Amino acid sequence: MNIFIFKDQQELAQEAARLIIEAWEKKPDLVLGLASGRTPLNLYNCLVQAYQEKRIDFSRIRVFGLDEFKGLNHDHPLSFASYFKENLFNLVNLRPENIFLLDGQAKNIESHCQAYEALITQMGGIDIQILGIGLNGHIGFNEPGSSFGSRTRLQILTEETRAAHLAYFQAMGEETPVMALTMGLATILEAKNILLLATGEEKAQIVQEALEGPVTTSVPASCLQWHPSVYVFLDEPASTFLKRKAFYLHCLKLTWPKKYSLRLF
Ligand code: F6R
Repeated sequence: MNIFIFKDQQELAQEAARLIIEAWEKKPDLVLGLASGRTPLNLYNCLVQAYQEKRIDFSRIRVFGLDEFKGLNHDHPLSFASYFKENLFNLVNLRPENIFLLDGQAKNIESHCQAYEALITQMGGIDIQILGIGLNGHIGFNEPGSSFGSRTRLQILTEETRAAHLAYFQAMGEETPVMALTMGLATILEAKNILLLATGEEKAQIVQEALEGPVTTSVPASCLQWHPSVYVFLDEPASTFLKRKAFYLHCLKLTWPKKYSLRLF
């Protein structure tokens, strides 16, 4: 695992954008897996800015959404589809035919999920999967207990995950969804590279468990320890409890300024 600790969220986001831009320079038809949520917002802002400054062009980039709430259509303001439109898709020159999202209203969920997996394969696989991490260690909506062999599927949400989204749905007078469609852990592990982002002290404990604890389905993100090309970008507060922090900083010092050697082909 390549663990990077940045002074703040802004520096982290800029560096994550640089990693993606570097990959795009080598492979202009990059396939990106996109997480939603609070954590990657600054990264998407940096990518939009880079697009405006002509440092990246999205015309050949393909994107896959990581997950979606069951029951929400793509126009629902709290759907991840709306999140992506608002924070990225409407602000860059991504082509509609290059955008692939899970459909929370799919009639036949099983065949929809299978078709989604087939599409990922057809596009040559995901080059960089962007991930956040939940307080319970979930990645995507793979809640604790998810099999490391899990594929894209319907997942029942834990109460803690529902609680994290409660305020937004409450504000709209709606129930928080009880289920979501998500890429599985095996699907995520097939991405050529993983970019895991975590910020804030509230994530420090689970980050330590995921990166340095045992690989266990109780902490789904710990499966990333098996992946050969993981980039973990943390801000200072999220790195608080890392036991090998001094070593990670030592490695960083020796390798910076960094050229990322991503597996793209
Ligand atoms: C979002 C997703 C989730 C989030 C995680 C962290 O598509 O799959 O796993 O990445 O819940 O959310 P934030 O970034 O809001 O703390």
